[in-house]
Amino acid sequence: MPSVTSLMARRTILDVRNVKASYGPFRALFGVSFSVPAGSTVALLGPNGAGKSTVARVVSGLVRAISGSVTFDGVETTHLPAWKIARMGMAHAPEGRAVFGSLTVAENLELAFRRSGASEPYRTLMSRAYSAFPRLGERTGQLAETLSGGEQRMLALARVLAVPPKLLVVDEISLGLAPVIIDEVFDALRTIREAGTTLLLVEQQVSRAIEVADRAILLSKGEVVIDGPVSELGDAAGSLLPELPGG
Ligand SMILES: Nc1ncnc2c1ncn2[C@@H]1O[C@H](COP(=O)(O)OP(=O)(O)OP(=O)(O)O)[C@@H](O)[C@H]1O
Ligand SMILES: [Mg+2]
Repeated sequence: MPSVTSLMARRTILDVRNVKASYGPFRALFGVSFSVPAGSTVALLGPNGAGKSTVARVVSGLVRAISGSVTFDGVETTHLPAWKIARMGMAHAPEGRAVFGSLTVAENLELAFRRSGASEPYRTLMSRAYSAFPRLGERTGQLAETLSGGEQRMLALARVLAVPPKLLVVDEISLGLAPVIIDEVFDALRTIREAGTTLLLVEQQVSRAIEVADRAILLSKGEVVIDGPVSELGDAAGSLLPELPGG
């Protein structure tokens, strides 16, 4: 008999089937299929323009698939608006710095936590955020616009901690950050994962992503070319991975 945990580990939290997507006349995805087991960390890798961010956007409802389907936590979400998908427990940490510059660190978190409808006391949520991101805890009164790029990205990530999402889609969280900051961000991702969140990591930093991920999906020109356990990436990926920036 498999244990309860091994059964849980095998449950699929996200299933993407034959998804095609376009931007106007430009076709970005040509029938992408993969699934993400609950509790796992999946790295979505590939060169610039491969379609990684498009996959992330389709999954979270920000871009509509032309055909194919997306199923999240057992519910087909292909045609649901992004906010409904978010309500179901999916968070999308987008590229860039999605924070309110004229508010302090603490105010940004307070706003996010109040909006999240979390049941836990506000103080508990704040201390969880500051223990995941000590650097933010040292800057609670600082205006977000004066934070460094990396600190702003940490703040954006800390805001999803109020209600740990079932699935967190993270797009290029390490882009343009110094290695020491990337370490902190990845430590925080591990903390989020330990709280039970499944992670779909879009990354150019192949080595970092592979360090935390159980599975890797390699996209090229809008198609999945490799999908398997990180431990089996090996030779098949060898010919493609060196081409990737940061790989
Ligand atoms: N809003 C858009 N309008 C038109 N074309 C777009 C748009 N967004 C993306 N594309 C195109 O779709 C393709 C896939 O883009 P996408 O952003 O998904 O790639 P990516 O793998 O995330 O690349 P990167 O590693 O550079 O972030 C690219 O050729 C890109 O130019
Ligand atoms: Mg991208």
